[in-house]
Formats: sequence, C-alpha cells, structure tokens
Amino acid sequence: MKSIFVTATGTDVGKTYISALLVKAMRDAGVDARYYKPALSGAVREGERLIPGDAAFVAECAGLQQQPEQMVSYIFEEAVSPHLAAKRSGAAIELEKLADDRTKAGAAAEFLLVEGCGGLICPLRRDDQSLMLADVAERFGDELLLVAPAGLGSINAAVLTAEYAKQRGLTVRGIVLNGYEAGNFLHEDNRQEIEALTGLPVLATVAWGAKQIDLNLAQL
Ligand SMILES: Nc1ncnc2c1ncn2[C@@H]1O[C@H](COP(=O)(O)OP(=O)(O)O)[C@@H](O)[C@H]1O
Ligand SMILES: [Mg+2]
Repeated sequence: MKSIFVTATGTDVGKTYISALLVKAMRDAGVDARYYKPALSGAVREGERLIPGDAAFVAECAGLQQQPEQMVSYIFEEAVSPHLAAKRSGAAIELEKLADDRTKAGAAAEFLLVEGCGGLICPLRRDDQSLMLADVAERFGDELLLVAPAGLGSINAAVLTAEYAKQRGLTVRGIVLNGYEAGNFLHEDNRQEIEALTGLPVLATVAWGAKQIDLNLAQL
C-alpha cells in the first residue's frame, strides 16, 4: 500500500480540498484510494452524531463508501487545536491508536491519503506526554505533501515548513500551490522561489474552484 501525508503551512490552506481532488483523481484512474485523518476538531453535531467535515467532503467528492466517522480517529466538536479540544472533552490522543487506525484504514486499499490537522507544529497532546503532528507523521513513516498558498507570504510559510520537516527528518515529496492563478507574476515568482529555496518540486498548482488536479499520480 502506498501512502502520502498531506500537511500544509497552516490551517484552512486547502489540505482537505486538495486531498479530495487527489483521492478522486486516484479513484478515477482505477486505484483503490482511501482517506484517513488522525484527529479533527470543529465537527458538526447532528443529534448524537458528530460529523467530521473534512472526511465528509472528501467522501462526497471522491465517492468513498465508508462513513466519514470511520475515517477519523478522534472527532471533537470544539473548533480549537486538537490538544485543547481533547483536554476539554476529557480525552487523550494515543499515538498507538492512531498508528493502528492508520494501518486498518489502509489495509484493504492500494493508496492511503492521510490528512494532517493544522500544520506540522499542531499539538495533539500536551500533558505528561507531548504529541505534535510531526511526531504522528514520523510514527506513520509517511512522506509529506505540503500544501501552501500561492499568494503573498507563501515563500516564508512554505520554506519555514519545509525547513522544519527537514530538521525533523521528515521527507517532503513535493509542494502543491493552492489558489494559483496562471499568468499572475507574483504567483509565478513564488513558485520559482519556493522551488529554489526549498530544493523541492512544486508538483501541482491548483486554481481556486478547480474541479481536478493536474498531477502525475505516479509521483505519489
Ligand atoms: N482551490 C480551492 N478552490 C475553492 N475552494 C477552496 C480551494 N482550496 C480551499 N478551498 C476552500 O477553503 C476552505 C479551507 O480549505 P480546506 O481544504 O478546508 O483547508 P484545510 O484542510 O487546510 O484546513 C474550505 O472552505 C475549502 O472548500
Ligand atoms: Mg482540513
């Protein structure tokens, strides 16, 4: 089973949107691709159910059969960092449960896309134990796909995250620039500078509202 761990320069950058396009592209190409997310906060309550919006979005877009709740290990209602949401709901995120759930999520699949929460320094647990998203990626052994915004501020954000990944010994397979406008000189320069400063390839650029991602899937 092949896998990729989608992270970003921050929250709301487009991890879920890009993940949905990637899982859909894989499935359209005949690959049994699935989705897994370790922890999600800001779930929507429907009676007794807590709906993890990211998994629901990807399932809807890519036509996944599983219920969204089955694709996420820890689901919290409060839209705050997972470590805080967990603490306030009386839960503690266990790295070994995440590793087991990830293995199960990918067991029957050909390709597993893991979507992180926030960025690499997102805390999942800060009590007697410390667990950050980078620790989760390290434990999973997945290589990273870094989603960064295409516009102003992107060089700083993308290079900082790439440098931190390197410092942590994590491999970044490549970068996806989201909200990219072809012909926009700022976006085009950001793409060149990010490649030059990180030494990593921009594997795809995705326009706002894009319905597909133009990426050689073999690179994943
Ligand atoms: N390329 C895009 N085109 C249209 N909407 C987008 C695009 N990228 C992100 N969005 C929207 O922006 C918001 C944040 O994106 P999301 O993928 O949820 O970010 P993240 O998963 O990194 O927190 C969502 O409402 C999402 O649908
Ligand atoms: Mg998301």
